[in-house]
Amino acid sequence: MTHTVLLILAVIAAWTLWRTIGRRPTPPARSAFDTRHDVDTDGEIPISRLDMPADIADRAERYMPSDERVLEVAVAFAGIDPARFSFVDLGCGKGRALIMASQLHFRRLIGVEIVPALADIARANLARLGVAAEVHTADAARFVFPPGPVVLFLFNPFKPATLGTVIEALRAAPGPELFVIYYAPDHGKLLDASGFLTRLGSPRGWRRRDGVAVWQGTRTLTAGVVPPGAIPG
Ligand SMILES: C[S@@+](CC[C@H](N)C(=O)[O-])C[C@H]1O[C@@H](n2cnc3c(N)ncnc32)[C@H](O)[C@@H]1O
Repeated sequence: MTHTVLLILAVIAAWTLWRTIGRRPTPPARSAFDTRHDVDTDGEIPISRLDMPADIADRAERYMPSDERVLEVAVAFAGIDPARFSFVDLGCGKGRALIMASQLHFRRLIGVEIVPALADIARANLARLGVAAEVHTADAARFVFPPGPVVLFLFNPFKPATLGTVIEALRAAPGPELFVIYYAPDHGKLLDASGFLTRLGSPRGWRRRDGVAVWQGTRTLTAGVVPPGAIPG
Protein backbone atom coordinates (compact mmCIF):
# COMPACT_ATOMS: atom_id res chain seq x y z
CA MET A 1 0.00 0.00 0.00
CA THR A 2 2.77 2.45 1.03
CA HIS A 3 4.67 1.54 -2.12
CA THR A 4 1.63 2.27 -4.26
CA VAL A 5 1.20 5.72 -2.67
CA LEU A 6 4.88 6.49 -3.15
CA LEU A 7 4.69 5.38 -6.78
CA ILE A 8 1.67 7.62 -7.43
CA LEU A 9 3.44 10.58 -5.78
CA ALA A 10 6.56 9.95 -7.88
CA VAL A 11 4.49 9.86 -11.08
CA ILE A 12 2.73 13.13 -10.12
CA ALA A 13 6.09 14.79 -9.32
CA ALA A 14 7.60 13.63 -12.63
CA TRP A 15 4.56 14.84 -14.56
CA THR A 16 4.66 18.25 -12.85
CA LEU A 17 8.37 18.55 -13.57
CA TRP A 18 7.81 17.66 -17.25
CA ARG A 19 5.02 20.26 -17.51
CA THR A 20 7.10 23.05 -16.01
CA ILE A 21 10.55 22.33 -17.44
CA GLY A 22 10.30 19.77 -20.21
CA ARG A 23 7.73 21.63 -22.27
CA ARG A 24 9.30 25.07 -21.92
CA PRO A 25 9.99 26.30 -25.47
CA THR A 26 13.67 26.41 -26.35
CA PRO A 27 14.80 30.03 -26.88
CA PRO A 28 15.65 30.81 -30.51
CA ALA A 29 19.33 30.48 -31.38
CA ARG A 30 21.42 33.65 -31.16
CA SER A 31 22.17 35.12 -34.59
CA ALA A 32 25.65 34.96 -36.08
CA PHE A 33 25.70 38.80 -35.99
CA ASP A 34 25.00 39.01 -32.24
CA THR A 35 27.37 36.15 -31.46
CA ARG A 36 30.20 37.69 -33.47
CA HIS A 37 29.80 41.17 -31.97
CA ASP A 38 28.52 40.08 -28.55
CA VAL A 39 25.57 42.46 -28.77
CA ASP A 40 21.80 42.17 -28.42
CA THR A 41 19.96 43.00 -31.64
CA ASP A 42 18.02 39.76 -32.22
CA GLY A 43 14.33 39.12 -31.94
CA GLU A 44 11.05 40.08 -33.48
CA ILE A 45 8.77 42.22 -31.29
CA PRO A 46 5.17 42.89 -32.38
CA ILE A 47 3.71 46.39 -32.15
CA SER A 48 1.46 45.26 -29.30
CA ARG A 49 4.57 44.72 -27.13
CA LEU A 50 6.36 47.95 -28.08
CA ASP A 51 6.02 50.84 -25.65
CA MET A 52 4.94 53.76 -27.85
CA PRO A 53 2.01 56.20 -27.87
CA ALA A 54 -1.14 54.72 -29.45
CA ASP A 55 -1.31 57.24 -32.29
CA ILE A 56 2.29 56.42 -33.27
CA ALA A 57 1.72 52.67 -32.89
CA ASP A 58 -1.13 52.94 -35.43
CA ARG A 59 1.43 54.12 -38.01
CA ALA A 60 4.36 51.90 -36.99
CA GLU A 61 5.74 48.50 -37.91
CA ARG A 62 7.19 45.88 -35.54
CA TYR A 63 10.80 45.54 -34.39
CA MET A 64 13.07 43.19 -36.31
CA PRO A 65 16.80 43.61 -37.03
CA SER A 66 18.17 44.05 -40.54
CA ASP A 67 19.80 41.29 -42.52
CA GLU A 68 23.48 41.88 -41.83
CA ARG A 69 24.37 42.02 -45.56
CA VAL A 70 21.75 44.47 -46.76
CA LEU A 71 23.54 47.77 -46.14
CA GLU A 72 26.85 46.74 -47.66
CA VAL A 73 25.09 45.38 -50.75
CA ALA A 74 22.96 48.53 -51.20
CA VAL A 75 25.88 50.92 -50.67
CA ALA A 76 27.99 49.09 -53.26
CA PHE A 77 25.05 48.99 -55.68
CA ALA A 78 24.50 52.75 -55.48
CA GLY A 79 28.22 53.57 -55.59
CA ILE A 80 28.02 55.52 -52.32
CA ASP A 81 31.28 56.62 -50.67
CA PRO A 82 30.28 56.25 -46.96
CA ALA A 83 33.09 58.49 -45.72
CA ARG A 84 31.32 61.49 -47.30
CA PHE A 85 27.83 60.78 -45.92
CA SER A 86 25.90 61.01 -42.67
CA PHE A 87 23.96 57.79 -42.09
CA VAL A 88 20.48 58.24 -40.64
CA ASP A 89 18.44 55.22 -39.52
CA LEU A 90 14.86 56.25 -38.74
CA GLY A 91 13.44 53.50 -36.54
CA CYS A 92 16.87 52.28 -35.50
CA GLY A 93 15.58 49.68 -33.02
CA LYS A 94 18.46 48.00 -31.19
CA GLY A 95 21.01 49.60 -33.51
CA ARG A 96 22.04 46.76 -35.80
CA ALA A 97 22.03 48.93 -38.95
CA LEU A 98 24.03 51.63 -37.11
CA ILE A 99 26.64 49.00 -36.25
CA MET A 100 26.72 47.89 -39.87
CA ALA A 101 27.09 51.53 -40.99
CA SER A 102 30.00 52.05 -38.58
CA GLN A 103 31.79 49.13 -40.20
CA LEU A 104 31.41 50.85 -43.58
CA HIS A 105 32.93 54.03 -42.07
CA PHE A 106 30.13 56.52 -42.58
CA ARG A 107 31.10 60.05 -41.57
CA ARG A 108 28.38 60.44 -38.93
CA LEU A 109 25.86 57.99 -37.47
CA ILE A 110 22.39 59.03 -36.31
CA GLY A 111 19.59 56.76 -35.11
CA VAL A 112 16.05 57.67 -34.08
CA GLU A 113 13.89 55.23 -32.14
CA ILE A 114 10.52 55.88 -30.50
CA VAL A 115 10.65 52.97 -28.04
CA PRO A 116 12.85 54.01 -25.06
CA ALA A 117 13.90 50.44 -24.15
CA LEU A 118 15.05 49.74 -27.72
CA ALA A 119 16.95 53.04 -27.92
CA ASP A 120 18.68 52.18 -24.63
CA ILE A 121 19.70 48.77 -25.98
CA ALA A 122 21.03 50.45 -29.14
CA ARG A 123 23.13 52.84 -27.04
CA ALA A 124 24.47 49.95 -24.94
CA ASN A 125 25.34 47.91 -28.06
CA LEU A 126 27.13 50.85 -29.67
CA ALA A 127 29.00 51.73 -26.47
CA ARG A 128 30.11 48.11 -26.08
CA LEU A 129 31.65 48.27 -29.57
CA GLY A 130 33.10 51.74 -29.04
CA VAL A 131 30.99 53.16 -31.88
CA ALA A 132 30.30 56.91 -31.73
CA ALA A 133 26.67 57.31 -32.79
CA GLU A 134 23.86 59.63 -31.78
CA VAL A 135 20.71 57.76 -30.78
CA HIS A 136 17.64 59.92 -30.21
CA THR A 137 14.58 58.60 -28.41
CA ALA A 138 12.01 60.40 -30.53
CA ASP A 139 9.30 60.18 -33.17
CA ALA A 140 10.96 59.93 -36.58
CA ALA A 141 8.18 62.09 -38.00
CA ARG A 142 9.74 65.05 -36.14
CA PHE A 143 13.30 64.45 -37.31
CA VAL A 144 15.14 67.33 -38.97
CA PHE A 145 17.83 66.15 -41.40
CA PRO A 146 21.40 67.38 -40.86
CA PRO A 147 23.29 69.48 -43.39
CA GLY A 148 25.61 67.76 -45.86
CA PRO A 149 25.31 64.52 -47.81
CA VAL A 150 22.83 62.07 -46.23
CA VAL A 151 22.03 58.38 -46.63
CA LEU A 152 18.62 57.65 -45.10
CA PHE A 153 18.16 54.01 -44.15
CA LEU A 154 14.69 52.60 -43.57
CA PHE A 155 13.90 49.01 -42.66
CA ASN A 156 10.15 49.20 -43.22
CA PRO A 157 9.68 51.10 -39.95
CA PHE A 158 6.34 52.74 -40.57
CA LYS A 159 3.11 52.89 -42.51
CA PRO A 160 2.41 55.52 -45.21
CA ALA A 161 1.18 58.25 -42.82
CA THR A 162 4.56 58.57 -41.09
CA LEU A 163 6.57 57.82 -44.21
CA GLY A 164 4.78 60.71 -45.97
CA THR A 165 5.84 63.11 -43.19
CA VAL A 166 9.42 61.84 -43.37
CA ILE A 167 9.47 62.38 -47.14
CA GLU A 168 8.42 66.01 -46.63
CA ALA A 169 11.23 66.48 -44.07
CA LEU A 170 13.61 64.95 -46.58
CA ARG A 171 12.43 67.38 -49.26
CA ALA A 172 13.46 70.17 -46.91
CA ALA A 173 16.85 68.56 -46.13
CA PRO A 174 19.57 71.17 -46.47
CA GLY A 175 22.19 68.95 -48.11
CA PRO A 176 22.19 68.58 -51.90
CA GLU A 177 23.28 64.94 -51.90
CA LEU A 178 20.81 62.33 -50.79
CA PHE A 179 20.24 58.59 -51.03
CA VAL A 180 17.45 56.51 -49.52
CA ILE A 181 18.08 52.83 -48.86
CA TYR A 182 14.71 51.22 -48.14
CA TYR A 183 14.82 47.61 -46.94
CA ALA A 184 11.54 45.68 -47.35
CA PRO A 185 10.17 48.70 -49.28
CA ASP A 186 6.45 48.11 -48.75
CA HIS A 187 5.58 51.72 -49.50
CA GLY A 188 8.26 52.52 -52.09
CA LYS A 189 5.62 54.05 -54.36
CA LEU A 190 5.47 57.05 -52.01
CA LEU A 191 9.15 57.73 -52.69
CA ASP A 192 8.57 57.26 -56.44
CA ALA A 193 5.79 59.86 -56.30
CA SER A 194 7.81 62.41 -54.29
CA GLY A 195 9.00 64.29 -57.35
CA PHE A 196 12.52 64.73 -55.95
CA LEU A 197 13.71 61.13 -55.57
CA THR A 198 14.56 58.77 -58.42
CA ARG A 199 14.55 55.01 -57.91
CA LEU A 200 17.91 53.59 -58.96
CA GLY A 201 16.62 50.03 -58.57
CA SER A 202 17.66 47.04 -56.52
CA PRO A 203 20.88 45.05 -56.26
CA ARG A 204 20.87 41.72 -58.04
CA GLY A 205 19.17 39.09 -55.90
CA TRP A 206 17.46 41.71 -53.68
CA ARG A 207 14.51 42.69 -55.83
CA ARG A 208 11.90 40.60 -54.03
CA ARG A 209 9.24 42.28 -51.86
CA ASP A 210 11.39 41.84 -48.75
CA GLY A 211 14.48 42.95 -50.67
CA VAL A 212 16.00 46.40 -50.82
CA ALA A 213 15.60 49.37 -53.18
CA VAL A 214 17.66 52.56 -53.50
CA TRP A 215 16.59 56.10 -54.43
CA GLN A 216 18.74 59.11 -55.17
CA GLY A 217 17.83 62.77 -54.69
CA THR A 218 17.37 64.35 -58.09
CA ARG A 219 19.21 67.53 -57.08
CA THR A 220 22.45 65.73 -57.94
CA LEU A 221 21.20 62.94 -60.16
CA THR A 222 22.96 63.00 -63.51
CA ALA A 223 22.69 60.80 -66.55
CA GLY A 224 24.77 57.66 -66.24
CA VAL A 225 24.59 57.48 -62.45
CA VAL A 226 22.55 54.26 -62.51
CA PRO A 227 25.07 51.57 -61.65
CA PRO A 228 25.78 48.73 -64.03
CA GLY A 229 23.55 45.74 -63.27
CA ALA A 230 20.79 47.94 -61.82
CA ILE A 231 17.33 46.59 -62.29
CA PRO A 232 15.07 49.53 -63.14
CA GLY A 233 12.38 50.00 -60.47
C1 LIG B 1 11.95 46.84 -38.52
S1 LIG B 1 12.59 47.71 -37.10
C2 LIG B 1 14.14 48.26 -37.80
C3 LIG B 1 15.34 48.18 -36.87
C4 LIG B 1 16.64 48.73 -37.38
N1 LIG B 1 16.48 49.84 -38.29
C5 LIG B 1 17.47 47.69 -38.09
O1 LIG B 1 17.59 47.78 -39.31
O2 LIG B 1 18.00 46.76 -37.45
C6 LIG B 1 11.56 49.19 -37.15
C7 LIG B 1 11.73 50.08 -35.92
O3 LIG B 1 11.05 51.33 -36.16
C8 LIG B 1 10.59 51.82 -34.92
N2 LIG B 1 9.59 52.86 -35.17
C9 LIG B 1 8.34 52.72 -35.66
N3 LIG B 1 7.73 53.91 -35.76
C10 LIG B 1 8.60 54.85 -35.34
C11 LIG B 1 8.57 56.27 -35.23
N4 LIG B 1 7.48 56.98 -35.59
N5 LIG B 1 9.65 56.91 -34.76
C12 LIG B 1 10.78 56.22 -34.41
N6 LIG B 1 10.86 54.87 -34.47
C13 LIG B 1 9.80 54.18 -34.96
C14 LIG B 1 10.05 50.57 -34.24
O4 LIG B 1 9.93 50.74 -32.84
C15 LIG B 1 11.12 49.53 -34.62
O5 LIG B 1 12.12 49.46 -33.66
